[in-house]
Amino acid sequence: MAINYKETIREVKKSLSRDLSKVKTADDLEQINIKYLGRQGEVNLLFKTLPIKDDSNIGKAINELKDYCKQEITSRLNILLEIKSDPIFDVTVPGIQPPKGSLHLITHAINEIESIFSQLGFVRRRYPEVETDWYYAEGLNIPKGHPARDDQETFYLSKEIVLTAHTSNGQLREMEKVKNPPIKMVNIGKTYRRQADTSHSAMFHQFEGLLIDKNINITHLIGVMDYFAKAYFGNDREIRLRPHHFQFTEPSFEIDISCGLCHGKGIIEKLPCKFCKSGWLELGGSGMVHPNVLKNGGIDPKIFSGFAFGWGVERVLMMKSGLNLPDLRLLYTDDLRFLKQF
Ligand code: PHE
Repeated sequence: MAINYKETIREVKKSLSRDLSKVKTADDLEQINIKYLGRQGEVNLLFKTLPIKDDSNIGKAINELKDYCKQEITSRLNILLEIKSDPIFDVTVPGIQPPKGSLHLITHAINEIESIFSQLGFVRRRYPEVETDWYYAEGLNIPKGHPARDDQETFYLSKEIVLTAHTSNGQLREMEKVKNPPIKMVNIGKTYRRQADTSHSAMFHQFEGLLIDKNINITHLIGVMDYFAKAYFGNDREIRLRPHHFQFTEPSFEIDISCGLCHGKGIIEKLPCKFCKSGWLELGGSGMVHPNVLKNGGIDPKIFSGFAFGWGVERVLMMKSGLNLPDLRLLYTDDLRFLKQF
C-alpha cells in the first residue's frame, strides 16, 4: 500500500506537539526524543519505508521533518532549563536584601516631642489642617479685619475655610472634645503660611500644648516649658520669658532658651557667640489662655484657667541638631542623597 507521506508527516508533527504539551520533566522530554528521533523512532521508520533509490522529494521532506522535530524538542528543553534555573526555585541562592527605609528627621523629632510631653501626661492629638475661620481665628479672639490676622497670612480655600497657619485651632477643638477639664494635650500637625525662602517653607510643623485645670498659673507654664527644654535640648539649658502679644493668650510670652554654645553668656573667649549673638535663642510663643477663648470653648474662666504654647517642630529640630541647612526646604524634597546623611 502506497504511503501518503504528506499526510503522515503532518500527523507526526501533530502528535509531536501533543506530546510536547504534556512534558513536565527532562525525562518526559527524553522519552519524546527517543519516540521521534531514536533509532526506532518515527522519523527513522519513515526513512526505512523509502525505496533504495529515491528520486522523489520525499527523502528531503523527511529530513525536514527530522530538523523540525529536533528544533521543537530543543526549544522545549530550553524552556525547561530556564524554569529550573529560575532563582525562585533555587533555594540555595542568598536572598536579595530589600533596601531599608528609615524615619524622616521630622518624624523623629515629632516622636521625641510627643514622648517628652507624654511623660507629663499630655495626650497627643491631631486636629484639622483645613479649618474653618472660627477655630482658626475668630474663636481665638481674632475678629475679622483685626490687624493680628496680618501676622499669619495663610491660604484661604474659601471665605470661611483656611489651611491653618498655626496649630492653635486645636485649642478650641480640644475644649469641645474633652468638655470638662483637666485638659492636657499636645496637638502636632502641619501648618501653612504664605512664605517661601531658604529659611521658610509654605508648609511646616508645629506642636501646640494646652493645659487647663483649676488654679493653673504662670509657674505651671514655666515648669512645663523648662521640663521640655531640658528633656529635649539637655539638662544644662535654661529658659526665659519675654513679654509678647497674642490675641488668644493673656499675658503672652515668647520663650527663649539659653544658647548651647555660649551657655547664655553671648560671648565665647571674649568674642560674640556666632550662634546666638545674645546668649539666648527664641523657641516660640506661649501664654495664659485668654478668658474669651475659654468661653468660646465652653469652659467657665471663673473656675478654670490654663496655658498654651505653639512652637515649630523644624525650629527646635534645627536648634537641637545644630543643622545649618542652606535651604530649609531640603527637608521636604525627599532626596535620598540628602536624607541618607542623617
Ligand atoms: N499660635 C502662635 C503662633 O503660631 C503660637 C502660640 C500658641 C502662642 C499658643 C501662644 C499660645 O505663632
